[in-house]
Amino acid sequence: MAPSKREQFGSSFSFIMAVAGSAIGLGNIWRFPYMVGEHGGGAFIVAYIICCLFLAVPCFVCEAVIGRRGRSDVYGSLERLAPKSKWKWLGGVSVFAAFVIVSFYCVVGGWSLDFLVRSLSGRLSHGDPDGASILFKRMSSGTLEPLSMYVTFLLATALIVIGGIKKGIERFTKITTPLLFFLMVAMVIYSVSLPGASAGVEYLVRSDFSKMDAAGWACALGQAFFSMSLGIGAVLVYSSFMKKEDSILKGGLWTAASDTFFAIISGFAIMPAVFAAGFEPSAGPSLVYETLPFIFAKMGIEAPVLSWIMTMVFFLAILSAALTSSISMFEVCIEYLVHRFGIKRWQAAVAFLVPILMLGVPCVLSFGPLSEFKIFGLTVFDLCDFVCSNVLMTLGALAFAIFVGWRMKRADVFDEFTNGGTLGFSAKVFRPLYFFVRWLVPPIIIIIFISNLL
Ligand code: TRP
Repeated sequence: MAPSKREQFGSSFSFIMAVAGSAIGLGNIWRFPYMVGEHGGGAFIVAYIICCLFLAVPCFVCEAVIGRRGRSDVYGSLERLAPKSKWKWLGGVSVFAAFVIVSFYCVVGGWSLDFLVRSLSGRLSHGDPDGASILFKRMSSGTLEPLSMYVTFLLATALIVIGGIKKGIERFTKITTPLLFFLMVAMVIYSVSLPGASAGVEYLVRSDFSKMDAAGWACALGQAFFSMSLGIGAVLVYSSFMKKEDSILKGGLWTAASDTFFAIISGFAIMPAVFAAGFEPSAGPSLVYETLPFIFAKMGIEAPVLSWIMTMVFFLAILSAALTSSISMFEVCIEYLVHRFGIKRWQAAVAFLVPILMLGVPCVLSFGPLSEFKIFGLTVFDLCDFVCSNVLMTLGALAFAIFVGWRMKRADVFDEFTNGGTLGFSAKVFRPLYFFVRWLVPPIIIIIFISNLL
């Protein structure tokens, strides 16, 4: 069981920076644009915002309520709030899901590290734009290069988590997140100004809802949960370090707002360039990594130095965004072992590295030597992504919502959500939110989930 004296985030701001850092990651820059591309553009964005506001925010609140009241890892918090019940096993599922996500997430993190290394030498900013998209295929389909980048990224994640997240990471994200924001805005301006880019802008603003079938809605919901880091207890664990005086609602709304803003900004940075370069918007996971080198190479023709600097800073920012996210997943795993078995953080990290590598290596090779190896028609990487994003996270979020709505006492939820009734605004929205969590969130998630499976 957790020690009663638990570490705390220094301030509400630090908490928001940590959860927003977890939320803003590759999901925004890499996943969101290709999801938009695969599901018909603007309509998907509208569906995404609806899912975010009405489903993701209430689910964020649920996880935060459990975490701050339980004050332990996922398993320990559930055990404390529902003693002698089976709910604690949900903690086991969360840790499993977190482990699978880290395993495949670090593949993409490794790619961004690879691109950062490439950009240092100027190879990205001084190449031929038309040949730029080949770079990614050549790199990701290799063996040694992507594997070494994967391992490096994974070790960096492990080291930061072992060292404690608060000091290093908090300080780091306070600089890099705003920087990434400014760079993204600059990228949007550049991207939109490329000849032929208007088709991309049109693609993003046009809302063709005929393309939004059940699968489209399920993906929008999955993306909202993925991007807000929900369903596997990451928000829960971070909230267990949250101060008693801080507002849970404020944390949820700020995270949702900054995360959505970042996703849309990324869409506008990438999609116009996709059209300008003549790529397919539905190219899938490789989309961003094929498009960005094109933009930078093109920029490099007119402004080589600027392009070189932009490339480096941009990939550094992506890398740091990816790291602050991978840390939150790893933290879910580590906290579990530390609490359950009373071992040290570094021991827990080492214990997790072995299975992560065992799953991660086939994920890396899914883009090369193992690209033809399919399970249910999906590569190992795609299968991990699908199982987590479309199944485990959705069901995890559903379970947390049911726990808060039906298992916890209403008075306890109210107390935690409003800090003992001291937060006026939270107290005002409590009634509709609680109603939502009980009666609307679970059925909506179930309907979207089942219709997607059918
Ligand atoms: N939200 C992150 C992103 O958008 C990914 C992430 C971090 C995550 N922690 C998580 C996803 C926990 C699900 C659960 O890139």
